[in-house]
Amino acid sequence: MAALHAHPRPLRTLTPTLTPRRFGPPRRPRTVRCNASAEPPRRSYSVTLLPGDGIGPEVVSVAKDVLSLAGSHEGIEFRFSEMPIGGAALDLTGVPLPEETLAAAKESDAVLLGAIGGYKWDSNEKHLKPETGLLQLRAGLGVFANLRPATVLPQLIDASTLKKEVAEGVDLMVVRELTGGIYFGKPRGFGTNHEGEEIGFNTEVYSVSEIDRIARVAFEVARKRRGKVCSVDKANVLEFDTIVTNNIFGDILSDEASMLTGSIGMLPSASISESGPGLFEPIHGSAPDIAGQDKANPLATVLSAAMLLRYGFGEENAAKRIETAVIETLNRGFRTGDIHSYGTTLVGCKRMGEEVLRSVDSEKLVSAAH
Ligand code: IPM
Ligand code: MN
Repeated sequence: MAALHAHPRPLRTLTPTLTPRRFGPPRRPRTVRCNASAEPPRRSYSVTLLPGDGIGPEVVSVAKDVLSLAGSHEGIEFRFSEMPIGGAALDLTGVPLPEETLAAAKESDAVLLGAIGGYKWDSNEKHLKPETGLLQLRAGLGVFANLRPATVLPQLIDASTLKKEVAEGVDLMVVRELTGGIYFGKPRGFGTNHEGEEIGFNTEVYSVSEIDRIARVAFEVARKRRGKVCSVDKANVLEFDTIVTNNIFGDILSDEASMLTGSIGMLPSASISESGPGLFEPIHGSAPDIAGQDKANPLATVLSAAMLLRYGFGEENAAKRIETAVIETLNRGFRTGDIHSYGTTLVGCKRMGEEVLRSVDSEKLVSAAH
C-alpha cells in the first residue's frame, strides 16, 4: 500500500470544499413563502435521520439540534423524519433495512446516519446482521463515492498517539469506493476444492465505469486540495489497474487515518451518488461499550452534518457555521473522553452538544455586531 502523505497547511475548513454539482446536483430546496411577509423565502429540506444502534441515537440527536440551529441562522429549515436501521430495525421489524426505511431515505433530500451494530446481533446469520442493513442502504442509494477526510486540528494535537511533529498538520482525504469491490462481488460463499477441502471465497470485482466514476471524484476532490492523487491498490498482484481506493482498502485506510488524528470520534464522512440523496455518517461505529452512558463524542456526526450541508445541499455558509462552532467549542476547552488531555474540560455527549449550540449562537452575535 502506498502512503498518503501529510502536509502542513493552514486549515481552512474541516471538510474539503468542492463543487457538489460535479457529483450530481445538490438537492433543490423547497421554498417556503409566508403570506405577505417581507422576509426572504426560507429554504426547506427533508432529512431522514437513521440513529441506528449503540451511541448512534445519542450522537444523531446532538447533530440534529446543531443542524437545525445553524440552518435557522441561514434561513434554512429542515423536515426531519426518523427511521429504524440495523439492530434497532431487526428488533422492531425482523430485518436490518425495512423497505419503509429505504423508501424514506430515497425520497428525502439527504440522509444522516449514526451507527449500526452491537453484541446482541453479532451471531445473527449474515442476512440478519445490522451491517447487512447498512450495505443494503448504501447500495440502494447508489452512494458510490465515500469521502473520508482526516485532519489533525492544532487544538487536538495532544490527542494523537503520534509524535507532535509527525501528527502536526495532517490533512488528508480518503476517497473510498463504496458500492462495489469485495463487499458486493459475486460469486461469494463456501464450497469444496479439488482436494475435497472446504473453502470460503469472495470476489473483488470492478467494472471500468465504476473505476472511471470514482477516479473522477478523486481528481475533482484533489483539484480543490493540493492536486495530488494517490492510488492505493495492489496493481502489481491483482487483476485490475488504477483505482483510487477500493471499498475494503478504503475501510482499512480510513480507520488507520483516524489513528493519526488521535480519535475516530472526530471523523465525518459523506457518501455521494450520481443524482440521488447523499448519505452522511461518522466513520466510527456504534461503540456498544459506552452506549447509553453519555460518553460518546458527537463531533464526528456534527461534522458529518456540515458535510451534508456542503455536499448534499450546496449550503456552504451553514456548513462553515457548524465547522467554526466545533473549532470554537474546542478552543473553549471542552473535550469528550476520547480527546481529553490535561488542562481541558471533560464533558459528556449532551454537554458537548450544548456547547456547540452555544458556539453556533455566539457566531450569530459576532456577525450581527459587524
Ligand atoms: C464503515 C464500517 C462499515 C464498513 C461496516 C459497519 C459494514 O466499518 O463504515 O467503515 O465496513 O463499511
Ligand atoms: Mn470501517
